[in-house]
Amino acid sequence: MTIRDIFQTMDYGPAPEGSAEAMDWLKAHDNRFGHWIDGGWTKPHQTFATKNPATGTELAQVTQGTEADVAAAVKAATRAQAKWGRTPGHERARILYALARLVQKHSRLFAVLETLDNGKPIRESRDIDVPLVARHFYYHAGLAQLMDSELPGMVPVGVCGAVIPWNFPLLMLAWKVAPALAAGNTVVLKPAEYTPLTALLFAEISREAGLPKGALNVVTGDGATGAALVAADVAKVAFTGSTEVGRRIREATAGSGKALTLELGGKSPYIVFDDADLDSAIEGLVDAIWFNQGQVCCAGSRLLVQEGVAERFHQKLKRRMDGLRIGDPLDKCIDVGAVVDPVQLATITAMVDGNTEGETYRAATPVPAGCFYPPTLITGLSASSRLMQEEIFGPVLVSMTFRTPEEAVALANNTRYGLAASVWTENLNLALDIAPKIKAGVVWVNATNLFDAAAGFGGVRESGFGREGGWEGLMAYLKPAGTAKPLKPVAAVPAPNEAVVEGIDRTAKLYIGGKQARPDGGYSKAIWSARGKLLGHVGIGNRKDIRNAVEAAHAAKGWGKATGHNRAQVIYYIAENLAARSAEFAARLRDMTGRSGEAEVAASIQRLFTYAAWADKFDGVAKSVPIRGVALAMNEPVGVIGALCPDETPLLGLVSLMAPAIAMGNAVVLVPSEAFPLAATDLYQVLDTSDVPGGVVNIVTGGHAELAKTLAGHMDVDAVWSFSAADVSGLVEKEAASNLKRTWVNYGRARDWTAEGEGRAFLRAATEVKTIWVPYGE
Ligand code: NAI
Repeated sequence: MTIRDIFQTMDYGPAPEGSAEAMDWLKAHDNRFGHWIDGGWTKPHQTFATKNPATGTELAQVTQGTEADVAAAVKAATRAQAKWGRTPGHERARILYALARLVQKHSRLFAVLETLDNGKPIRESRDIDVPLVARHFYYHAGLAQLMDSELPGMVPVGVCGAVIPWNFPLLMLAWKVAPALAAGNTVVLKPAEYTPLTALLFAEISREAGLPKGALNVVTGDGATGAALVAADVAKVAFTGSTEVGRRIREATAGSGKALTLELGGKSPYIVFDDADLDSAIEGLVDAIWFNQGQVCCAGSRLLVQEGVAERFHQKLKRRMDGLRIGDPLDKCIDVGAVVDPVQLATITAMVDGNTEGETYRAATPVPAGCFYPPTLITGLSASSRLMQEEIFGPVLVSMTFRTPEEAVALANNTRYGLAASVWTENLNLALDIAPKIKAGVVWVNATNLFDAAAGFGGVRESGFGREGGWEGLMAYLKPAGTAKPLKPVAAVPAPNEAVVEGIDRTAKLYIGGKQARPDGGYSKAIWSARGKLLGHVGIGNRKDIRNAVEAAHAAKGWGKATGHNRAQVIYYIAENLAARSAEFAARLRDMTGRSGEAEVAASIQRLFTYAAWADKFDGVAKSVPIRGVALAMNEPVGVIGALCPDETPLLGLVSLMAPAIAMGNAVVLVPSEAFPLAATDLYQVLDTSDVPGGVVNIVTGGHAELAKTLAGHMDVDAVWSFSAADVSGLVEKEAASNLKRTWVNYGRARDWTAEGEGRAFLRAATEVKTIWVPYGE
């Protein structure tokens, strides 16, 4: 081709990044890898191939991890943790800093290896993934440094099992490994079967950083290896991947006491208002959905465009799509790389081909043979169509139109997921009105796919729970010191006389929607004093009662929008009304438990004051992210919280759960202590006289096991807390897998509610952090 020809066609010439260094690294290992355990390589066995999806050629053979391999890795990690967990924060900080430096030093090798193994364009791995990985280790070096002074009393959880997907192999490693190591934990990591190579390279390099043997172990393999790691003797499981597998992990770990964070799938809305800068919104879409072949969990894959500009926007978009260059991912001029594996390509193809609705537009850009899929836009779908609801995880954008902001919010929230959202409008007033209304963990205003180590990332609903990044993310790798052992034992509560009669007593009422209600089944239970005197009757709630209570709680959603100041007034008022009746409550507690109740009533009043105080003080923050703009971490209410209250101190326990939840704007369904429920039923009148809006607090007495099951399995309950018996904790975690709701349980461990019944842990459990990114300026 002559220069003249080039001027004629104006084609881009190929500009491939060299792969020699990466190939040499593979060759130095004979293109065969064992696991990285206890600071060294194990012998490869039962190997399988990992391929370059762009060419179909094999890059290396890696080992299918067995249960025994996982056990060996966990053993090494356990040994290492004893020492690493006691290493001063400064020492850990130095090693994390060294890891960051080494990632930068070897950045080219990491980027090329990532692109070879995953198929993503080199521009993405080089300019986005690897710099974010380095940033993650720098940031967490800082957290390790500051932890000792800033988080006294917190200790590492222990050995963490991390299971990650193939779309951001090295970045997901960093998101798990950096906070785990910073906090003093050790890690066994299972990379995705399609993309294990950068994790292996990272493990090898970690030795150079001075990371002690066994602190980081990498076991390769498929889902079976992942399942073995989840089942192994680890203290925490951190998972990123599909909702389906996340749900299985939730079930598998239920009742085990293992801490769990899940970052799952998404079908994130990308909302374009008619006053948006359309060209910027289109460039955003190129980044969000095509740059990574749509293989981004939080990709704005559900386009919602305001009707007036829809046609123009779609036209512009198609033109832009036609100009996208698809091909060799190592080529620096390529926009769209290869799909990770033929299996994924087949899934995308089947989903698109199976669709009969709307209009499908495929970009008029040449598509090479092999594992490539053309950028595709499907317009005119209905809200319920499969492609609008399910993840495609390919370079396929689906689109719908809307008329009003209200409709945009309704469509945006019409999904079982809640990972991220983008809102495009030049009207900041509108953007900031919409952002809190969208059910998602992250909202980008006039931007998309911004990530940073300082800003929390994670979802709500079936996108999982937990946040990665920032102090919040670090907390998921810590626990209060001393929680391995039972907390200070509480003076044994004498069992009530066993003469429990199930009967029908007209005075037995539940509290639903601000009204006393007869239990649906009509049954009640007699409650006797410790000395054998009949004290009264409580209703035995059933599934229907729980459903009614949840409905009432949902109807009280206005509470979440009330100001913290207003919520505080109501909680102070509850305290005042409880104080006015202290003697009566104290006597009731003494009758039920045989212990003096005065101190418990006083502590309950004090606790109400604590959360009235917190109602307008559990502030969000503006994160220091490296953009021109702000990333706001807003504490939002979780929604509807179901709580099973403890027996230890029946009134104080209930108040300790109710108060933080309602202070933060949630509505609650409380199931009082099964053994000592009368303190709760006496509370009905106190609530009635304290201006608590109907439905904010609902109380259903009855059997914990049955009610816990209904609450945890209810699709409209957002979180369940259990401070009941150990088996109830397991039950709650298992049932919660249905909609992947958040849980907070005690595994039957009794608590001294006076000393350990309040604090930020309660406020964190009562809130969901939403990160709202607002870049500004030109
Ligand atoms: P996947 O869920 O099939 O696999 C993820 C990882 O889990 C892999 O390492 C796999 O080997 C392992 N695994 C599979 N079955 C397992 C089991 N029973 N027990 C334990 N581990 C098991 O997901 P895939 O296909 O690798 O990744 C794509 C999915 O991940 C998408 O649905 C995407 O939305 C989601 N994802 C979510 C992200 C987030 O941050 N929320 C980030 C990246 C991906």
